Amino acid sequence: MTETTSPRAALETNGFVGPFPRFASEDTIGELREFFRDVLDNQPTHPLYNRYSVRDWHLVNEKVRELLTAPELVKSVQEATGADSLVLWRSKLFEKFPGDGAIDWHQEYGYFDGEEIGGHRPALFPMNPSGQWSWTLWLPLTDVSDDDGVMEFVKGSQRTSYPKRMVSLTESGAYVDPRNRIKSKEELLTRAKNNSLILDIDTRRVFDGVDPDRHSLDDLFDLLTEHCANLLAVVTEPFEVGPDDTQTMPMKAGEYIIFTERCMHRSRASKPDARLRLAVNARYTLGDTWVYPQRATGDTFDGSNLDISGHKCIPLLGEGFNQANAYL
Ligand SMILES: [Fe+2]
Repeated sequence: MTETTSPRAALETNGFVGPFPRFASEDTIGELREFFRDVLDNQPTHPLYNRYSVRDWHLVNEKVRELLTAPELVKSVQEATGADSLVLWRSKLFEKFPGDGAIDWHQEYGYFDGEEIGGHRPALFPMNPSGQWSWTLWLPLTDVSDDDGVMEFVKGSQRTSYPKRMVSLTESGAYVDPRNRIKSKEELLTRAKNNSLILDIDTRRVFDGVDPDRHSLDDLFDLLTEHCANLLAVVTEPFEVGPDDTQTMPMKAGEYIIFTERCMHRSRASKPDARLRLAVNARYTLGDTWVYPQRATGDTFDGSNLDISGHKCIPLLGEGFNQANAYL
């Protein structure tokens, strides 16, 4: 962001803006880093979702909530988007271990239906679908360089809808092969059972009827891959991109960027000798957006296989909040 460009103009032109300076103390960022490291290591049952999940810890942990609803941050989002009312409706931890692959190029128009993993349940129902109603904030809890999972954007791509197609989940950019992370059969089976193996994928029944003593770890991974290869997901068709068309966003821990998910973006792979990269994102929508409309029909699962019956939005700014939503 140059000094002559306002955040609003930058977001409008490029589809992303930042980094904005860190507002939380180093201690706070350090504490949150420890908290999420612990979530990753111990995979606790999420009190809201009754299974392991890296989503919406801001509804459980006060420190996370304070960070993602901080006045400094709400001010940045308001200034960059021009929105006169805002709610926080989702957050998520994004971890990238040394050697993890990229989350490949993708854009999301603003319905968050889980199409990247074959889902089709819109999470947001905007009152004015011809406008903008959704923005994402991405805040790393570790320093991020070009070598350890940096975010990258195609400048101005939010105005174009890129062609997509259905592929097997294992060919999708959203699929991160867990082989790099799992060291034993026991760990593989436990994590499959509590859905902490592959982001958003329900793996609880993958090893049903399989006797682990009769298979090697590699065999079990092959079974998992076979299962995932039979699931469908949406991916972006390969496209031409010039060296000056994209921008990476190396950042210090606690800095943050704001973007529209309509802007084509990815997180690059991490080098094998890189550090663990931890980041949280927060998703904000206009106050009048209907969040999780499927709840009205008694369907309490979202596109990422989470039971959202206990989910709540947090009002941040303005008035006229959608009466159909649950609020904290
Ligand atoms: Fe994304």
